[in-house]
Amino acid sequence: CGIVGYVGAQSAQDVVVAGLKRLEYRGYDSAGVAVLADGGLASAKKAGKLLNLEKELKDRPLPAGNTGLGHTRWATHGGPTDANAHPHLDNAGRVAVVHNGIIENFAALREELTGRGHDLASETDTEVVAHLLAEAYSSGGDPAEAMRQVCRQLEGAFTLVAVHADEPDVVVGARRNSPLVVGVGDGEMFLASDVSAFIAHTRDAIELGQDQVVELRRDGATVTGFDGGPADVREYHVDWDASAAEKGGYASFMLKEIADQPKAVADTLLGRVDGSGSLHLDEVRIPQSVLREVDKVVVIACGTAFHAGMIAKYAIEHWTRLPCETELASEFRYRDPILDQRTLVVAISQSGETMDTLMAVRHAREQGAKVLAICNTNGSTIPRESDAVLYTHAGPEVAVASTKAFLTQLVACYLVALYLGQVRGTKWGDEIRTVVRQLSEMSGAVDRVLGTMEPVRELARSLSAHDTVLFVGRHVGYPVAMEGALKLKELAYMHAEGFAAGELKHGPIALIEEGLPVVVIVPSPRGRSVLHDKIVSNIQEIRARGARTVVIAEEGDEEVVPYADHLITIPVTPTLLQPLVATVPLQVFACELATARGNEVDQPRNLAKSVTVE
Ligand code: G6P
Repeated sequence: CGIVGYVGAQSAQDVVVAGLKRLEYRGYDSAGVAVLADGGLASAKKAGKLLNLEKELKDRPLPAGNTGLGHTRWATHGGPTDANAHPHLDNAGRVAVVHNGIIENFAALREELTGRGHDLASETDTEVVAHLLAEAYSSGGDPAEAMRQVCRQLEGAFTLVAVHADEPDVVVGARRNSPLVVGVGDGEMFLASDVSAFIAHTRDAIELGQDQVVELRRDGATVTGFDGGPADVREYHVDWDASAAEKGGYASFMLKEIADQPKAVADTLLGRVDGSGSLHLDEVRIPQSVLREVDKVVVIACGTAFHAGMIAKYAIEHWTRLPCETELASEFRYRDPILDQRTLVVAISQSGETMDTLMAVRHAREQGAKVLAICNTNGSTIPRESDAVLYTHAGPEVAVASTKAFLTQLVACYLVALYLGQVRGTKWGDEIRTVVRQLSEMSGAVDRVLGTMEPVRELARSLSAHDTVLFVGRHVGYPVAMEGALKLKELAYMHAEGFAAGELKHGPIALIEEGLPVVVIVPSPRGRSVLHDKIVSNIQEIRARGARTVVIAEEGDEEVVPYADHLITIPVTPTLLQPLVATVPLQVFACELATARGNEVDQPRNLAKSVTVE
């Protein structure tokens, strides 16, 4: 969910709604806003996209006020209805609160409140907070202290922002787990899940830490711990401006972000590789002596980042000869994994705040493992809680389905693998130097792929009436197939599956019927050519059963031509680096197909970009 708070001289409703627009990527099931005005509190909330709330506010504007808050929701407790939308109010309508996270003991709290005569109107866990805050405030008259008292009673993950009609110039916030950032303006202060909500007003920010409460007034912010004691915060200046988070002439953020990929790849390599084939990764602040002792690598991530992690496994094992496993973050800690001081955990997350990944990071560190984060969001929770971080430099990614962040995650994974190889002096020393040089050429290769996408778009449009598309690949082409299928599920709401090509004959081949589109990612015929031979056989098996084959193969790969109903060529690259170019046509394919089906690609149904609940 996305949260905004404001106190200053501007119209709170306008500032909050504009902020919510920037945060819609965090959830868009419903939205709401509350404003303190004329000694009272006024609010509006609507199920569906923010647009519905905007319409409502146009028809029935809230009274003008300079203090307010707002929320854009990704439903957890209770469906996406008007009533369940935030903000939630107490019975007297004096307190409004918005919340991101899940309050795990809400049922018990709700029962206690009902016992004390409160009347709870919604099915959400958040409403209990409004009632608890009203009670706590009435006994002490101090909004920050009321918030601290309430936070001490709550279990689970919660980031909260609240206002009280008796305190028209105060906004209070609290953070446990999901992020909360203060924007410091001139005579006005902001509070949001992410700086993009207030970047149009100020680039000076203060990031709250775990278990902190903030009281915001026009002229400043006071931060304390949940116990009322002093708190350490991080002040920083945001180094990108509002235009980085604009569509810049593209029809969607996704199209812009796909087009941004050559630059994102180049930026992520900048300063880290040089023409002689050396790597400069001093920023990885885990001592080389510790890295030399590592005896196992575990990569954890979710969604698209997990696919980057699957590819990392191939690279790490090949270049370092260290055993490496890749696991879904949501599964990791619940199976009691074997970790110790010699385990290196690599946590990949675009946002740096995915709760499944964060919890896995905490578990790994509790077991003594060293954690290296690969992250695209400066100062977010996962890098803060890791031993070291390698930032991807994709710039802000707004579309819910990840594209440029994925490519930069791959680059970062290659860098980590090569760096481990370099530090540990594996027998692949020469190959490492060669690959470092080849990596520098990948931005150009991605650019070339982007220049040849018209036939892919045409193909996508021609397949828009199909129900199912299968994707198969071998070696690093297997995670690419899974990523291609995920993109199609996310954007086109189609049944799509990615399989290891060799596994096809052990079950999935039964799905193939006349005309079913099957996308095959073909490895380079050079290098490990045995892989290539095997997949050529797989294509024939698929085709013999009537499938319509869409073959993604290297330029000059003549052998696959007779079996390709549609051929998409990609530049010649080393086998392990091929995902950087092979993924791009699949992104374009999914984006175009979804558009042809009338879907909105930036905000697919039911999804959110940052999932801050487990
Ligand atoms: C959500 C998004 C996915 C993303 C995943 C992991 O499910 O919809 O696109 O890949 O989270 O996000 P992260 O920020 O941790 O990379």
